[in-house]
Amino acid sequence: MKQLKLGLSMFRMGYHIAAWRHPSNQPDGAMDLGYYRRIAKIAEDAKLDLLFMADELAIRGQDNPPGARQRSSYVAELEPVTLLSALAPLTSRIGLVSTASTTYSEPFNLARQFLSLDHLSGGRAGWNVVTSWGKEDAANFGHLALPDYDTRYDRAAEFVEVVRGLWNSFDADAFIRDQASGQYFDPAKMHQLNHEGRWFRVKGPLHMARSPQGEPVIFSAGDSEAGREVAARSADVVFTAKQEFEDARAFLADIKRRLPAHGRAAEEVIVMPGLMPILGETRDAARAAYDRLQELIDPVVGLASLYDRLGDLSGYDIDGPVPEPKDPAFRSRAEVMYRLAQREGYSIRQLYLAVAAGRGHRTVIGTAADIADEMQAWMEGGAADGFNLIPTHLPGALEDMAGLLLPELRRRGLFRQEYEGRTLRENLGLAPRAAVAA
Ligand SMILES: Cc1cc2nc3c(=O)[nH]c(=O)nc-3n(C[C@H](O)[C@H](O)[C@H](O)COP(=O)(O)O)c2cc1C
Repeated sequence: MKQLKLGLSMFRMGYHIAAWRHPSNQPDGAMDLGYYRRIAKIAEDAKLDLLFMADELAIRGQDNPPGARQRSSYVAELEPVTLLSALAPLTSRIGLVSTASTTYSEPFNLARQFLSLDHLSGGRAGWNVVTSWGKEDAANFGHLALPDYDTRYDRAAEFVEVVRGLWNSFDADAFIRDQASGQYFDPAKMHQLNHEGRWFRVKGPLHMARSPQGEPVIFSAGDSEAGREVAARSADVVFTAKQEFEDARAFLADIKRRLPAHGRAAEEVIVMPGLMPILGETRDAARAAYDRLQELIDPVVGLASLYDRLGDLSGYDIDGPVPEPKDPAFRSRAEVMYRLAQREGYSIRQLYLAVAAGRGHRTVIGTAADIADEMQAWMEGGAADGFNLIPTHLPGALEDMAGLLLPELRRRGLFRQEYEGRTLRENLGLAPRAAVAA
């Protein structure tokens, strides 16, 4: 029987906009390794596939409406690859996946960083490829404006190929290290990349042995045509923020349909929609847990949560309809949000209350059986191979998942009892990638 692959998004003390105010949270957790260590332990004991870190390269958005920022926890975060490297020796099986931008890095730096994490963790590293959509990110890297969409994706496509080329600098058996003969490696098994493309000239090789899992696992989350093509060509796992079953099913089918053109089969790519479960022993208890969090949202923070996606709504009646997005930098999420508001007939206030919880991800409130029903239906209906679990607050919501939801999934045979392998690629059931020609 097919089983679900499950990741835990470990961003920002939880995704609920008021997560840091939850009485069970550790308000200074974002800067504390001990906090993340506790979360990683619960997630690994629960046999989750991976810990996922999102990332941004700036404090995004303005203090708009004024006063919102000083009430928000996102102004202070650890650099995620460094954090995951610190977690590597404190964990042994769970995958360690970080976001990193192709727009504001060089392939050589990034290939080196992630392959180091991979070695330090015994083959558990993953890279979530993003192009970064924030204009505040651009301003931290000497750009006057956000590089345009096509430019970012054109660079991203080449960037990923260069990184993969560098990861293949040495064959798996290149290092002989024979103290008796004095030969350290076989030069026939070292490959110089000599890449010359539109964006990058990289000679290589990368001075590091091949990954214990062949190559670190590549994740991507783009939803546009260009984003989907990068995913189909290069990603092992595709994240998405689809809210509705039919959208998710169409997305999964579209990704899998693109694979043969890149010489790949459907089972080589795992599609994981985000899912925020809000759990309780009963439906009433789950609803009460949700209400408790929603009550912690300051209205000024609620309005600010819509600003980056839908623009400045402060001139509109907060209890009136949501205006159509005009030129959003973050196309797919803006559309998702606008469609949600239209479908549900949400006012601006109702929309921020609805999205503040999931930050654009599907939110399901209920018992373990309710949520397992949904997950099972999505998997069996071809809308998901697994889920990127989005906790409202950490570690509280993770404890609920581990204590309530996972036992229910296991009872149904939908989730593992034990890790299958040592590396992230093995646990995800992904075959080694075919090497990129040097
Ligand atoms: C689950 C998920 C996680 C994402 N994480 C990040 C992130 O950490 N940093 C970032 O800049 N963008 C992130 N994105 C944004 C995507 O990289 C991408 O820009 C977005 O989905 C829109 O797709 P498009 O750019 O192809 O339109 C994420 C998207 C999703 C669905």
